[in-house]
Amino acid sequence: MKAILIPDFVSDPSTLQPTSTPIPTPKPNQCLVRITYCSPQHADILHAQGKHQNNNKKRGWCFPPFVLGFDFAGEVVNSPRNGDVNTSAVFKKGDRVFGAALGAFAEYVCVDVQAIRKIPAALSDETACAMSGQAVSYASVVHIAKIKPGETVMVSGASGGLGSVCCMVAKALGAKVIALSGSADKISTIRETIGADLVLEMEGDWIEQVMGFTQGKGVDVMLDNTGMVNDAIRALAYFGRIVILGFAARKGVMEDVKMNKLLLKSVTVMGYRFGESGRRYPDELKKIWEGYLRMLETGQLKAPLYGKYTGLEDIGRALKDLEERRVCGKIVVKVASENETARL
Ligand SMILES: NC(=O)c1ccc[n+]([C@@H]2O[C@H](COP(=O)([O-])OP(=O)(O)OC[C@H]3O[C@@H](n4cnc5c(N)ncnc54)[C@H](OP(=O)(O)O)[C@@H]3O)[C@@H](O)[C@H]2O)c1
Repeated sequence: MKAILIPDFVSDPSTLQPTSTPIPTPKPNQCLVRITYCSPQHADILHAQGKHQNNNKKRGWCFPPFVLGFDFAGEVVNSPRNGDVNTSAVFKKGDRVFGAALGAFAEYVCVDVQAIRKIPAALSDETACAMSGQAVSYASVVHIAKIKPGETVMVSGASGGLGSVCCMVAKALGAKVIALSGSADKISTIRETIGADLVLEMEGDWIEQVMGFTQGKGVDVMLDNTGMVNDAIRALAYFGRIVILGFAARKGVMEDVKMNKLLLKSVTVMGYRFGESGRRYPDELKKIWEGYLRMLETGQLKAPLYGKYTGLEDIGRALKDLEERRVCGKIVVKVASENETARL
């Protein structure tokens, strides 16, 4: 099969090209999936460069040689038989599925059955692929921040994969949404694709604009994808909540936060690590996926697709666009047709 193989870490992932490698053999608890679409994210760049925490020699699990990539959609080629695997999730040949597994920038991937879900009939493989990583956004809005109708919610990194879906979920719940971006070029696209009530570039007097929009009260909730807790506290209402989701803008350097600022405004700060929470609380994870899929099926969430990328040959270009912050929404790369008969 063709795949983006990493025999050694690379300094410039935009130069990556597909090479030929054997189709992987599934373990007893795994499905073999023929990939139709894959979706690159920032973590793929770091994995290719060896800079991700997963590449850490002591605590990591991602070392060369490996096939790059994580999020994908595709079709089950073969799966464990009923009873051979300790899970309620049973798949059969031909099922359309989406999920995440290392090795997704390839024509085929082996994936644990717990890591994939059937694609609802109403969704295309392309849409499912674009939305496969954002159950975390749904969970952060509904289960962690517990946003109520009428509350004002501010989202950083709103042009990104997580941020755009945070905005859409909060809007669907009846919140007023303020979307933040670091780029003036993306403002109109964010306004068109996610329908926030206010879209702001974080320049100049943007916090004053937030205070004006909320009649001086400040926002009830901040969903932080980029690492800006100090600014969030300034824009927050008394008894406001901050959910920390990511640090996309921090370049590995964390913020110092003065505790008295939290006390003075009675602020609640919550960290949320979706993957680990799901492993510890599988019943909660099931509810999260049910709720997220319901919103997708009913059209309350629309995939914020960006650009056109065809074939694994386009992975390098996709990673470069991500690295240079050109992307607004999610890139999906078409790997094969949805209706092509599997070769295996
Ligand atoms: N908590 C969890 O369980 C969990 C799960 C998955 C991912 N994450 C983390 O959540 C964060 C967001 O993930 P994502 O998939 O939404 O990422 P993404 O699609 O790359 O979006 C991140 C956004 O952050 C903004 N940004 C500001 N400064 C940036 C910089 N220096 N480099 C790159 N982007 C920058 C960009 O928007 P503008 O250009 O508009 O400013 C970009 O659209 C990441 O840190 C990721 O690792 C957390």
